[in-house]
Amino acid sequence: MRIADIESHIDHELVSKTQIAELISKVAAQVSRDYEGKDLLLLAVLKGAVNTLAALSQEISIPAQIDFMSLSSYGSGTQSSGTITVRKDLDCSVRGRHILIVEDIIDSGQTLRWLIDELKGRGAASVEVFALLDKVSRHEVQVDVKYPGYVIPDEFVVGFGLDYDEQYRNLDSIAVLKPQEYEHEDQGEQS
Ligand code: IMP
Ligand code: MG
Repeated sequence: MRIADIESHIDHELVSKTQIAELISKVAAQVSRDYEGKDLLLLAVLKGAVNTLAALSQEISIPAQIDFMSLSSYGSGTQSSGTITVRKDLDCSVRGRHILIVEDIIDSGQTLRWLIDELKGRGAASVEVFALLDKVSRHEVQVDVKYPGYVIPDEFVVGFGLDYDEQYRNLDSIAVLKPQEYEHEDQGEQS
């Protein structure tokens, strides 16, 4: 929702609530066609992809299961790193399943690269990706994205599941915070 307190921390909006809904509807329609008759597993990476998964899954018109993984990539507060740790694994086996990874954002691409290889290694029948946002200019590794989202500039964003220091996930659009909000950047991890 729009919260007055959050509003005062925002510098500018990058993707509106309406734009998010439009993209997700379009992707859901495409996914429903592409996976017709297949055993579809929607896999969201906690916590950032939860809002996108919730919105997408409601618009998919074919049967689909949902599961979650929590991964962390250690680095400084707004930087990712290549070292991925599994904090919570899937509840189900992926062997022979058609998996659509739902992600909030592709930054370096390290998280997705690792996850795609991991799922294929576990015997998934297919692994595709929908990422709501993509910082194309920051990619360090190549990732094939079947359902691309909005390309955004190299700015740290919050909202629609994305956080800064665990805050702002409940904002209903994608925004950049005022510079002073990022001033207390600390060593931390991303999820
Ligand atoms: P990667 O660099 O592509 O591995 O991105 C890893 C994760 O870092 C993403 O899934 C997000 O959870 C987080 N992340 C990357 N960029 C941002 C951002 O601008 N805002 C909030 N989280 C981000
Ligand atoms: Mg994430």
